[in-house]
Amino acid sequence: MIHASFGVNEVGNLTLNGADTVELAKQYGTPLYVFSEDDIRENCRHFVEALGAFYDGNGQILYASKAFCCKEMYRIMKEESMGIDVVSGGELYTALSVDFPVERIFFHGNNKTDAELKLAIQAGVGHIVVDNLEEMHRLNDFASAANRVMHIFLRVKPGIDAHTHSFIRTGQIDSKFGFALETGEAMAAAKEALSLSHLSLDGLHCHIGSQIFDTEPFALAADVMLRLMDKLRAETGVTLEGLNLGGGFGIRYQESDRPGVYRDSIEIMAAALRAAAKELDFPLPKLYLEPGRSIVGAASATLYKVGSVKEIPGIRTYVAVDGGMTDNPRYALYQAPYEIVIANKAREERDFVATVAGKCCESGDLIQENAAMQHAEPGDTLAVLATGPYNDSMASNYNRIPRPAAVMIRSGNARLIRRRESYEDLVKNDL
Ligand code: LLP
Repeated sequence: MIHASFGVNEVGNLTLNGADTVELAKQYGTPLYVFSEDDIRENCRHFVEALGAFYDGNGQILYASKAFCCKEMYRIMKEESMGIDVVSGGELYTALSVDFPVERIFFHGNNKTDAELKLAIQAGVGHIVVDNLEEMHRLNDFASAANRVMHIFLRVKPGIDAHTHSFIRTGQIDSKFGFALETGEAMAAAKEALSLSHLSLDGLHCHIGSQIFDTEPFALAADVMLRLMDKLRAETGVTLEGLNLGGGFGIRYQESDRPGVYRDSIEIMAAALRAAAKELDFPLPKLYLEPGRSIVGAASATLYKVGSVKEIPGIRTYVAVDGGMTDNPRYALYQAPYEIVIANKAREERDFVATVAGKCCESGDLIQENAAMQHAEPGDTLAVLATGPYNDSMASNYNRIPRPAAVMIRSGNARLIRRRESYEDLVKNDL
């Protein structure tokens, strides 16, 4: 299986971190999101350790909350001394509701509302990553009205596109996020920020993509961004002290995936920064990284109950489950690959090929097409692996399907961290 934390127990059931997933499905119902807390904590420590080993711990690892956001996740991040990246008032509110240390929060977004900016100012969020000039001026005005100076980073489009397995250097100015480097827009924005009375420009930010397997694009981004900081110093005399290189570290979704070791990416990034800093005689900036997917990780799954199994002779077999694109829209959106295991037959051969369909009124409501799994029958527990990142956080209530419950597993023991949505929850805001 794609992650060592999955196993098969003596009765042939799929386990995650020692917990029997078939029993979890019985106890908490389906669909059910299951997460390995041990792995989440280990992932945090991996990044923190690497920043310590290769960069003297000069910076902070920020968990990109969009991968999976809930109170318990923030409690764990707090205990692991992580910072967080939030992208909305909703994520910020959730973090504040568990007293997450505000100085360790970076607030992102390409279109922050007045209410979101005011909430961030009132809460005293550590850094706001400013996306555009209009927002910069609004933030300055609100900060001035609140008699505060807000610390900001600028979101820069560095011209590196790492969205595929092989990365390319492009102008890449066609993105809704941030200020373009190549056109001089980023430099002009930095000068503008330096001129505003209630903003303190602390650093620059970029994010080059997601689910990246290579290590080199990160090094290139580090180099390009440090050179921009040097250029800004040359033109203004101001030396920025922070550099945030975003997230994007890939995880394993299928056997053939070979993600890089995150530690290696950090080593290479740190080396690129040291080399450029030495060449330019520029002080090493504080380094911030924003891993999301790689923190939640592949040691996670969604458990479903199989309803019907429909064989269309000569065409394909559909295995219908009691969830679908409402709890996992990633196949419908990106044809994202997943490994499927019939959890109560985990020891058997995966010699059955079927398309896993959801229960929504939508023919594109598929979780995976023509996937190998053990022979599926109604009543089985079907597990889709590595659904922890970007499933719950992208879920919807299409067809008024309630969102699943979520459990965290620590040392083999499971605990509920999010209740299943009820029908009452679905109507509670209807008037
Ligand atoms: N920082 C910034 C500014 C980002 O935009 C993102 C992701 C991250 C950090 C975290 O990236 P990660 O380490 O998780 O790759 N919904 C898509 C993923 C969208 C990612 C958007 N930004 C999916 O399901 O694959």
